[in-house]
Amino acid sequence: MAQRISGLYRAVRLPLFYKGLMFALGADNGIRRYVNEALEPRPGIRMLDVGCGPANILAYLPSLDYTGLDLNEKHIAFAREIYGDRGRFIVGNAADDLRQDEKSFDLINVSALLHHLSDDEARSLFASLKLLLKEGGRIVTLDNVWLPRQRAVVKLVNKLDSGLNIRTPDGYLALLSDLGFEVQPRFFHDLLRIPYDHFVMVARNRPTSIA
Ligand SMILES: C[S@@+](CC[C@H](N)C(=O)[O-])C[C@H]1O[C@@H](n2cnc3c(N)ncnc32)[C@H](O)[C@@H]1O
Repeated sequence: MAQRISGLYRAVRLPLFYKGLMFALGADNGIRRYVNEALEPRPGIRMLDVGCGPANILAYLPSLDYTGLDLNEKHIAFAREIYGDRGRFIVGNAADDLRQDEKSFDLINVSALLHHLSDDEARSLFASLKLLLKEGGRIVTLDNVWLPRQRAVVKLVNKLDSGLNIRTPDGYLALLSDLGFEVQPRFFHDLLRIPYDHFVMVARNRPTSIA
């Protein structure tokens, strides 16, 4: 993973600190809008949340079959404690720990993860996720982004991010090329209390016959 982990950045790996930081930034309203306007989960579907962290998103989802996956065991323990009966929480990675779930998910959320991964890691993650997705299912990603003529404060916040692979829109789109997805990009500029730019990709898994 390409990210800063020393000093203050270490604290982001602690569930309560991460949750508090998100709350201070106004992420509660931002997550609600992301869920309603981009993720669009239907009740009852099977959803995987990769790099779920403390599973903050669960509070904004309808009743559905939720699996949260994260490499950080502290985040998963925290999510289990808060949401135990609302989902399945797994410490692990998508390539190795969900082999039994092939072609079973309608929706896969990948929020605030890609900018922590190198191009090779991200492309390999998407190849693994494709195997887990039903035909016609969707992967939805959300990350901060570099844009031309970006506000100075957004550039500064991007530079301070613990993730070292913030990309341009084309850089994010390239991660999904040649994998048989139909991708719709979109931008959000007002998800947080501070000025910030987010880039979303909604990638639909084409049915095999037209892939
Ligand atoms: C910035 S947090 C995002 C948490 C949450 N998705 C959100 O939007 O608030 C990124 C999370 O991805 C996890 N992570 C990084 N690489 C991963 C991988 N290959 N598989 C699963 N989790 C991963 C990290 O442990 C971390 O908790």
